[in-house]
Amino acid sequence: MSETTTKQSKGIFDSENKEDREKIVGLLTKAYWMEIETVINYITNSVNVDGIRAQEIRESLAEDVQEELGHAQQFADRIKELYGVVPGSLDFTPEQSFLQPAERQTDLVHVIRGVIEAETGAIEHYTRIVEETDGIDHVTQDMVIAILKDEQGHRRLFEGFLREFESEGKA
Ligand SMILES: [Fe+2]
Ligand SMILES: [Fe+2]
Repeated sequence: MSETTTKQSKGIFDSENKEDREKIVGLLTKAYWMEIETVINYITNSVNVDGIRAQEIRESLAEDVQEELGHAQQFADRIKELYGVVPGSLDFTPEQSFLQPAERQTDLVHVIRGVIEAETGAIEHYTRIVEETDGIDHVTQDMVIAILKDEQGHRRLFEGFLREFESEGKA
């Protein structure tokens, strides 16, 4: 009999990959909080904005709230699948200073810029997760690539809004 035994590889679930798994859970937990904070601030801004031009932004943000909530749930599910524990609200630390209500609720450019910054932050963090899971955890990688595509779409839409305001000299 040969001395080599065939090892059943369970990939990211292998006990020898525990460290990688915990690192990924940490990255997913940060992503989870980013989505939750985005949900909070997109609700806030979708309701607060005022003015004739506000309708488009209001509707886009209200639609995104549902997508970001779906992302948060996907991140939470994956944390559990990787044997992590989804944190409770006491662990939450807010970071989106740029998405706080503007001084004037007709200041749509403030909201547009804030959304672009939030989406850019998400794109950066999710790109990192895609890189860190490469060849290690294809399922997380696949899920995050799909979410990353959504965030790129969100950012592109609001970049279009900003361009329109810039071309009118309002930004
Ligand atoms: Fe999202
Ligand atoms: Fe987004």
